[in-house]
Amino acid sequence: MDLLIVGSGFFGLTIAERAAAAGRQVTVIDRRHHIGGNAFSEAEPTTGIEVHRYGAHLFHTSNATVWEYVNRFTTFTNYVHRVYTNHRNVVFPLPINLGTINQFFQAAYTPDEARALIHEQAGEYDPKTAQNLEERGIGLIGRPLYEAFIRDYTGKQWQTDPKELPAEIISRLPVRYTYDNRYFNDTWEGLPTDGYTAWLERMADHPNIEVKLSTDYFDESQPLNKKATVGQVPVVYTGPVDRYFDYTEGALSWRTLDFEEEVLEIGDFQGTSVMNYADAAVPFTRIHEFKHFHPERADRYPTDKTVIMREFSRFATREDEPYYPVNTPDDRAGLLAYRDLAKGEQDVHFGGRLGTYQYLDMHMAIGSALSMWNNQLA
Ligand code: FAD
Ligand code: NA
Repeated sequence: MDLLIVGSGFFGLTIAERAAAAGRQVTVIDRRHHIGGNAFSEAEPTTGIEVHRYGAHLFHTSNATVWEYVNRFTTFTNYVHRVYTNHRNVVFPLPINLGTINQFFQAAYTPDEARALIHEQAGEYDPKTAQNLEERGIGLIGRPLYEAFIRDYTGKQWQTDPKELPAEIISRLPVRYTYDNRYFNDTWEGLPTDGYTAWLERMADHPNIEVKLSTDYFDESQPLNKKATVGQVPVVYTGPVDRYFDYTEGALSWRTLDFEEEVLEIGDFQGTSVMNYADAAVPFTRIHEFKHFHPERADRYPTDKTVIMREFSRFATREDEPYYPVNTPDDRAGLLAYRDLAKGEQDVHFGGRLGTYQYLDMHMAIGSALSMWNNQLA
């Protein structure tokens, strides 16, 4: 073995694929029973509908190198992501756009009229000197839109009143003064035609790559553990950086999500893939309905059943899946301390979402793995 990779998410698999193509013998281990990290998906058994096990994953990028690379393993559908939100039992388009504004104010404002109105309403606070998230939100888009679409949703995501949250959590709140409600602005977007798992398996499908699942790097009863491998073979580590160092500099804090999946005996529950619930009265943040990610599969998916998933957000304990870095001042100090420790680890390369304590979209994880391969490992 020339390289050990801990974690089979997009970061680990990109390194594995590049290394194998360059003739190296690679072993990838993952503590889960499946490859792919959080991008893993599988067919719900009674309907065959593809379900994203760790939350809905939409691929989008403007990075030509990444786009060319991912197209070696999969084609993409022409799916275009759009999100709607339910506020007081009325559905509005997101991100906030001229359609949202005109529906909310029961008006027919032109772009200039809407811009002037929001500018006036936002005058209540200066976002630069805002003392908390609420003041910044109001300073950016005005109180009416903030209270309807941002306040309670953000409060549910953080289980915290936005008046108690730091202003830095939001730097901008985009408002579009057109009716364009395309969610992503990237050059390319789409969903993998045969699903995420087929894509991930094609990346790992090389005679030089061996994958060992249900194998934890810190389990000393299995041979490819930390003690036995560091200093013996180059390691790419994509698990949590604080776990690697036994939490000596403190545990970094994360938010996690809980998912409640339900198979319904109806053909269509909400008519779209993602519906947010903006209000505090509803405990979940959104509902995914997976069949709408693949309208081109209509002939294969049942017409009398659908799969939905309610999403709830909360702070993660050590037993939970870490999803989004909280990034408090303590976390930032801890991360710097871990980065110093990481420099002292001989031939261990920390990467990916967990290894760098950073939210990374898939295209960013892949792009950053390609850079690590080119600059440090090739
Ligand atoms: P991961 O996918 O997390 O992979 C890390 C792997 O390491 C895991 O498989 C884990 O089991 C393994 N591991 C950890 N510790 C150990 C250990 N001790 N021993 C062995 N293995 C270990 N990106 C988008 O582009 N679009 C989206 O719409 C999108 N939606 C998302 C929604 C949610 C809820 C989340 C959490 C992420 C979303 N992402 C999305 C981001 C996407 O999931 C990441 O970009 C991608 O997972 C990053 O890959 P990674 O390899 O860095 O990490
Ligand atoms: Na303002």
